[in-house]
Amino acid sequence: MKLCIIGSGYVGLVSGACFAEVGHNVICVDNNERKVEQLRAGHIPIYEPGLEDLVSKNVAAKRLHFTSSIEEGVDGSEVVFIAVPTPPQPDGSVDLSYIEKVAREIAGVLKPGQYRVIVDKSTVPVKTGEKVADTIRRYNKQGAEFDVVSNPEFLREGCAVPDLMKPDRIVIGGNSERAVALMQKIYEPFMAPVLVTDINSAELIKHAANSFLALKISYINAVAQICEASGADVEKVADGIGADKRIGRHFLNAGIGYGGSCFPKDIAAFIAISDSLGVPFNLLKEVQRINATQRERFIAKIRQSLWVLKDKKIAVWGLTFKPDTDDVRSSVAVEVVSDLLAEGAEVTVYDPKGIEKAQEFKLVEGAKFAASPLEAADGAEALIIATEWREFAAVPLDELKERMHTSLIFDGRNLFDPETVRSFGFTYSSIGRE
Ligand code: NAD
Ligand code: UGA
Repeated sequence: MKLCIIGSGYVGLVSGACFAEVGHNVICVDNNERKVEQLRAGHIPIYEPGLEDLVSKNVAAKRLHFTSSIEEGVDGSEVVFIAVPTPPQPDGSVDLSYIEKVAREIAGVLKPGQYRVIVDKSTVPVKTGEKVADTIRRYNKQGAEFDVVSNPEFLREGCAVPDLMKPDRIVIGGNSERAVALMQKIYEPFMAPVLVTDINSAELIKHAANSFLALKISYINAVAQICEASGADVEKVADGIGADKRIGRHFLNAGIGYGGSCFPKDIAAFIAISDSLGVPFNLLKEVQRINATQRERFIAKIRQSLWVLKDKKIAVWGLTFKPDTDDVRSSVAVEVVSDLLAEGAEVTVYDPKGIEKAQEFKLVEGAKFAASPLEAADGAEALIIATEWREFAAVPLDELKERMHTSLIFDGRNLFDPETVRSFGFTYSSIGRE
């Protein structure tokens, strides 16, 4: 089938490559001309394991194309996906101006006699589909036929390719049989369970899913605080409760809190939309509060040990919001580095993939960057682990101890086994395992 995807970022580009991989002919549109040129030249602007090979393979097979022209994309494709940003506004509600602009642009290029399915893949508040349909109707003077569908995306960064190729489920929210049938055909090759709903339910599924996952993380982080106060071990508690199939062990890893471009904004958005519908979701406000406390408690622990942070030489491992990505948007690791810099510490950071983007967006100005974990730790009075890259777990602890001025580790992601680290002579502090 011929598909168009508007927005070639984490969602649009990976979806486009995966649709092409199963045999569809895909045209990816982006209004960032530089990005389109990069993609045409074979350069992938984001780091996502497996993506580069997938893109080059499908470009070579002439199933994947890039353009900056919405008209070119919409003209040649029966189904048009929207995968543009839906950032938060200061009050937590979603800035839907990107979606609205794309809806107007699509309407402007729809031709008479054409039928198009317009699919919203961006994460949006419930009832957005209705507004997209109204907008297209209003701006399409030619009276072209179209249907709007909601098809939320559940990929995780760092494993986006396998998540898309083997999804747990595909949600198709549509009010037209013709559109839903086309969507089912697109997804047939993925051989995954398909859930067909109305548009509002599909939109709500996405916010409710992300909020539930964030709730699980805040739950275990709150339990971690009780573990610290009582001498229990949060890893063992998580194993114990996670073994119950009704609960599950996933997303019960305690740490310095969730970050990234999605959870913080989607939880805020779900709170805002619930408020506006007259059904305040106070539970989610508590989820946000616990999340913020995790970082504050972590910094307080460091301050308690080092007494004064000003002029202290501190090494930080990790800048990205999770491992296996270069994404530093709303990363708790970045916030931790910023907190330390604000108190006058001398911070040296190492991250396998995140440094370039942090520098590009000037996120941790004043920090130094190292080329390896050991280089970052040279002469450090404390080491902070802010992201759990596998590479960090492989660092020889004897060499680390030699390189550091003071053998003090604050592990915000419970990367190390406490007994092992302490056997090398480190003073080691982690989350929920005192
Ligand atoms: P992104 O910032 O990585 O990519 C968005 C792309 O859209 C950019 O390349 C931008 O240049 C392009 N764009 C913006 N306006 C455009 C326009 N008018 N025409 C053409 N292109 C335009 O964003 P993302 O992380 O891919 O997220 C996109 C949406 O998907 C968001 O709603 C997000 O919440 C949701 N989502 C993201 C993830 C994730 O892991 N990143 C997962 C599931 C859902
Ligand atoms: C998350 C969801 O997992 C995806 O299903 C969803 O599609 C996506 O948001 C989205 O809507 O954009 P992602 O943000 O890529 O995916 O990464 P996650 O693996 O969910 O991690 C999010 C944050 O939670 C990270 O900061 C991570 O460190 C933290 N986390 C995760 C924990 O602190 N503990 C855990 O047990 C799991």
